[in-house]
Amino acid sequence: MVQQSAPLWSSRFAFVMAAVGSAVGLGNVWKFPYMAGTGGGAAFVAVYVGCVLLVGVPILVAELMLGRRGGKDPVGTMAGLGARFGGTPAWGLVGGAGVLTALLVLSFYSVIAGWALAYVPKALGGVFAGADGTATQAAFAGLLGSPGTLLAWHTAFMAATVFVVAGGVRGGVERASTWLMPALFAMLLALVGYGMVAGDFARGATYLLKPDFSKIDGGLVLAAAGQAFFSLSVGLGTMLAYGSYLPADVSIPRTSVVIALCDTACAILAGLAVFPIVFAYGLDPSEGPGLVFVTLPVAFGQMPAGALFGAVFFALLVVAALTSAVSLLEPVVAWGTGRHGGSRKAWAAGVGAVAWGLGLLTIFSFNIWADVRPMGGDRTVFDWIDHLTSSVMLPLGGALLAVFAGWALPKEVSAAEFGTGDTALFRAWRFLVRVVAPAAVLGVLLDRLT
Ligand code: PHE
Repeated sequence: MVQQSAPLWSSRFAFVMAAVGSAVGLGNVWKFPYMAGTGGGAAFVAVYVGCVLLVGVPILVAELMLGRRGGKDPVGTMAGLGARFGGTPAWGLVGGAGVLTALLVLSFYSVIAGWALAYVPKALGGVFAGADGTATQAAFAGLLGSPGTLLAWHTAFMAATVFVVAGGVRGGVERASTWLMPALFAMLLALVGYGMVAGDFARGATYLLKPDFSKIDGGLVLAAAGQAFFSLSVGLGTMLAYGSYLPADVSIPRTSVVIALCDTACAILAGLAVFPIVFAYGLDPSEGPGLVFVTLPVAFGQMPAGALFGAVFFALLVVAALTSAVSLLEPVVAWGTGRHGGSRKAWAAGVGAVAWGLGLLTIFSFNIWADVRPMGGDRTVFDWIDHLTSSVMLPLGGALLAVFAGWALPKEVSAAEFGTGDTALFRAWRFLVRVVAPAAVLGVLLDRLT
């Protein structure tokens, strides 16, 4: 087997930025608001935050730990650690399932990022000037209705992702993340400020932050847990791959908390930017995947210099999505070069091409297949890919990694990687990955299946 390249990150700061870059993306700005909206607002947010703290962060720690200890691509890492500590190299299958999931997620991720890309010239051209919710809804529907346009933007975004990964992570991703992430954060803050002035901020904030716990059921918990995994980029090998490039002197628990804080802050800010506009303009909070593409343009259309502001915002969203897409492609490419050899460039291009092709399933779900419901019910093909990856594969993958880190990995090894010795914090983490995380995931999954 080909040995993994030397640590990729040039410093702790660079790693944190790259990991935050992976975590913060469409999941925060696009998916979180619309999932909160379809999940009834604050009840979803409360469960989501609970999932991040009790399940997401412990698994993030576990995944980085396994990645650093294994030191290979996700499959090689899990097979190697499995053979050494878990009784069988068949643990490599968990890594393999992760690689496959990453490919599927990348396929639709690139399509949605293409929407954001399409909105850069739209905003700049003043398409949204003075528009109300009905007009922005029509503009969005126009984009979705045109498979050719969607394909063009999807292709452009996937090409950019391949380009960055082909060039190696260090040059592109590190550099981009370090200043673009803070810029996106500032933009989100500004949008929240706009919502305070011009939107129905009180109603938006109440909707998002004052939970009605009677709304919580198994479906909501599964959706929130899935979103927590998706947003933190855990459960599919991204953090196994990033962990394998991690220098030994970086504190995994501390970095994990930083990642989770940045990630959750961005999601909540995005929600606080979106919902005041939803209520001020009589839009539907449960509108679904189009939510931010319908609400935020209303704000850009009304504010001074909104065309420029809007274009910059969507451009930043594209970059945030790019650093995440790169982290989806990276574990697959790491697996390819690590397992089978060959050049990084060739693997990046080949895997990118496969994900690009799979992306057609998502594109068509919004137009020519808009009425296709593969299993009856109301899920389109895209809804199925999204559901199976986010709500099934990621939680399952994450729970298996937690079980491995908690039960198979000897305590001395995990303590050494945790870096604090046998402290209360370490014991709390171990309890969470041994018991709480797997039980929570299996409980919700079983509840859904039966
Ligand atoms: N966390 C990213 C986001 O929120 C998406 C992602 C998921 C990236 C899984 C890598 C792995 O947009």
